[in-house]
Amino acid sequence: MTINSLATYRPKLHFAPKKNWMNDPNGMVYFQGEYHLFFQYHPDGTTWGPMHWGHAVSKDMITWEELDIALYPDEHGTIFSGSAVVDWNNTSGFFPDEPGLVAIFTHHLEGTEGKPSVQTQSLAFSHDKGRTWTKYEGNPILGHDTKVDFRDPKVFWHKETEKWMMSLATGQTITFYSSPNLIDWKFESEFGEGFGSHDGVWECPDLFKLKVEDSDEEKWVLIVSIGDNPEFDNGSFTQYFTGSFDGSTFTSDHESIKLLDFGRDNYAGVSFSDIPEEDGRRIYLGWMSNWRYANQVPTEGWRSQMTLPRELSVRKVGEDYKVIQRLVGELDSYFSEKVDIDECIVEGTKTVKVEESYVDLTLNLERVDAEQFGITVHHTIEQHTTITFDSSKNVLVLDRKKSGQIDFSDMFLLDQEVKLENTDKVQLRLVVDSSSLELLVNDGEYSLTSLVYPDKACEAISIHTFNGTIKAAGYVSFPCK
Ligand code: FRU
Repeated sequence: MTINSLATYRPKLHFAPKKNWMNDPNGMVYFQGEYHLFFQYHPDGTTWGPMHWGHAVSKDMITWEELDIALYPDEHGTIFSGSAVVDWNNTSGFFPDEPGLVAIFTHHLEGTEGKPSVQTQSLAFSHDKGRTWTKYEGNPILGHDTKVDFRDPKVFWHKETEKWMMSLATGQTITFYSSPNLIDWKFESEFGEGFGSHDGVWECPDLFKLKVEDSDEEKWVLIVSIGDNPEFDNGSFTQYFTGSFDGSTFTSDHESIKLLDFGRDNYAGVSFSDIPEEDGRRIYLGWMSNWRYANQVPTEGWRSQMTLPRELSVRKVGEDYKVIQRLVGELDSYFSEKVDIDECIVEGTKTVKVEESYVDLTLNLERVDAEQFGITVHHTIEQHTTITFDSSKNVLVLDRKKSGQIDFSDMFLLDQEVKLENTDKVQLRLVVDSSSLELLVNDGEYSLTSLVYPDKACEAISIHTFNGTIKAAGYVSFPCK
């Protein structure tokens, strides 16, 4: 254990709880000038345990104030993942005077003496901007007689049919329910058999509509997280489907697997809209860890952090529809000092010294004739992470084998890869924080989110080539003083 790991690994830009264990983001919602982030929280230890909903609020989604625990376990079980909505029209009857927040979450009752666990959906409501909550007396509001995996309700208002819609993870499918009032739910349809990856249990679904960039077309997107299965090398990861939704049934355009992130550390992410009726930006945030090693990562006193918030859109690339992720504009105001990297030809190595420990780098790289090229984040003199584009295979590889502490999991050593259409011209944005890298390639077309545990975030960044040259230009931004 590094002696100063408490301070060293603690992120500057990413949300992490002050102490103890955190996993999935829950109930993200914007209400009366505040962004709310609830999260899976174990207040009595730094490993996963009886789940509560932790709570934090923010004015800009970057600086968070952690508040008291929002939801505690009760006679129906511990509090698993779910969502929150503003019941603007008092459909539930909880808000006779003014609108407030409703949390829709899973109660998990652990099985005992040969009896299986039971998962049901429940409600709680708040009249004071999420500071205190009342559990609905009719809980649970939705259960299942036989399905053990029956969780993670994500609810939104479906304008076209004027109903609430719920997506629920039900084993290796997603089941959709509708409701007029958040209390009574009706089965609509089930999606998933034969579609996408079934490497593990399906978790944390999220269904929403997005505009296709530069067109009038709209697409429905269904995000589905896939739990860790020890038979495979990936650990937990996130896939998505693009298609249509008619108020009852989701139809996917494709059976193939589309990954939301090619790094190992973006899981259980869900999105929300920052304007009522789903009309605002679609903002996504994921849990920056992997179930394969989340309980072992070498932080002390606290465990886990969230990704930076990302704005989602859909881009048509050839015949394919891709979910695009861009860091929200709010991040820019945290980086004021900008140093240009003037257009140059690189052959070998070009180093940019970094004065502050965390950086936001934007680079355009154009291959002239290099076989391989990329960037190295020098966390310290000995510790580094490399990002390499291999032109012969058109792949991008993120290698964190020398990035600092790595020995807590075999899977942490494996390279993270993505196949690109081509590597002749690539654009990248990279944010380096104390213990993570968030890499977005080609204006958000590919995302690689990766934890690292170096002694320092970053001392220098170098651009490198192998067997040939590239053209490079861009800038590095440093945090406000
Ligand atoms: C996903 C998940 C959810 C569940 C929660 C429990 O990471 O397994 O399916 O609700 O974590 O903490």
